[in-house]
Amino acid sequence: MTMWFPDPEKLKRPVYKTLQSLIINAIDAGDLRPGDRMPTHRDFAFKMNISVQTVSRTYDALCKLGYLVGEVGRGTFVRIRDASPEAAMPFLPTRQEELIDLSMLKPVTDSLHYEVMQQGLMELSKDLTRDLVKAFRPEEAFRDHAHVAAKWLNSHRMDADWQNVIFTNGAVPGLLSAVMSTAPAGSAICVEEVSFHILRPLCDYLGVRMHAAKMDEFGLLPEAFEELCSHQPIRALVISPTVCNPRAHVMPLERRQDLLDIARRYQVHIIENDVLGTLIKGAPPTLWQLDPERVFYITSFSKTIMPGLRAGLLIVPPEMSVIAKNRHLVTNWMANPLAVDLLTHWMEDGTVDRLISWQSNALQKRQKLAEKLFPGINYYSHKYAPHIWLPLPSTWQEGDFVAQARRHQVAIAGSLPFMMVDQSNEGDAIRLNAVRIALGPCSEERLTTALRVIASLLQAGAETPLPMF
Ligand SMILES: Cc1ncc(COP(=O)(O)O)c(C=O)c1O
Repeated sequence: MTMWFPDPEKLKRPVYKTLQSLIINAIDAGDLRPGDRMPTHRDFAFKMNISVQTVSRTYDALCKLGYLVGEVGRGTFVRIRDASPEAAMPFLPTRQEELIDLSMLKPVTDSLHYEVMQQGLMELSKDLTRDLVKAFRPEEAFRDHAHVAAKWLNSHRMDADWQNVIFTNGAVPGLLSAVMSTAPAGSAICVEEVSFHILRPLCDYLGVRMHAAKMDEFGLLPEAFEELCSHQPIRALVISPTVCNPRAHVMPLERRQDLLDIARRYQVHIIENDVLGTLIKGAPPTLWQLDPERVFYITSFSKTIMPGLRAGLLIVPPEMSVIAKNRHLVTNWMANPLAVDLLTHWMEDGTVDRLISWQSNALQKRQKLAEKLFPGINYYSHKYAPHIWLPLPSTWQEGDFVAQARRHQVAIAGSLPFMMVDQSNEGDAIRLNAVRIALGPCSEERLTTALRVIASLLQAGAETPLPMF
């Protein structure tokens, strides 16, 4: 195997700093892969025409940063990233212009969204309520807004009482408040074995034990949920039954009812994360609709309207209202009043429904594009979903596939961050060989290019041209 070396021409002062960045970039780009052996200190120094001390200093710093590991007597290696929550973000931390970045789940946006926001802000400034500027008490400031939100929910067959509706700055704060309301530190919750990547670090930070239950192509298996509940007290089940991220299945009504039956028998609350659900025309009733006394319902408008609004709703069971409002107050105080005002204006004038419908149609078009460019390839998705979940053939290892796609300037997410842990199983995360491909983040033209790259990688298999000397 050829050893990787950076281009010596790229070294600038301070040399150890540039060398660090070159190695990190090579790891990020997949030129250096997990487990690869690094050149010895002497070889590196000789090849780059720098001192051995500079190489040692660089390697030491990268070991501390977690990019490399030194093994006594064996050498230095690119670290195989473990499944620790800190390493578990599926998307790239920064945008890189040359890349087609499908690693982050985003809605389709175009000039329409910019214009709607501009118009909305102008209107907001024209009849800005004085009380809103002075707002400090969420209950008082948002009373009228909560009535509007409840009316909007009612028009979607979600018969919520305004007093149980909490405005949030998106789904994540809703999730935080719901988990805190149901599961104190040290207690246990059940999650789908493949789920939203934020859940693992969230439970970790809150000291909540996570038990991952098995799924099939329709979502969580009721018998797996029941098995867990029968062995220990489970405080809550966190679940996305309608186009879950990342597997994109829609759970049938009967299974929703089975899960609710079990939850009632074992006194478990359900936290239904429905961030993508409103995009799905003709979906079965939400768990909340089936049992509003037991279910915390989370929705958000970041994926259905536009990310920049950062507004969402948490509907809480009536008897948990005070508990949830207290948790939300402590962690957030209140949602941003400007976003709430804009959102409720848009609920009243029909903009919310118009943009959601626009989004569903835009995604449906992209799903058709994926279908066309991936003929005969098996993947999971839904005609209105913003992503697809692609199990890889055994000829590909997920890490290699993601790295090869990056070499071709396409970023996608591997499965590891979405794997939840079952702590009754010694904390092991399950492993799947699959990737998530977001369809929304770029133009249709760039998406076509990226999907073609992915299709041709799948066709070519993992075999790459041998190095020639
Ligand atoms: C399942 C799920 N929940 C929550 C979120 C975050 O939503 P928000 O941006 O509204 O906090 C995402 C974002 O991708 C998601 O996929």
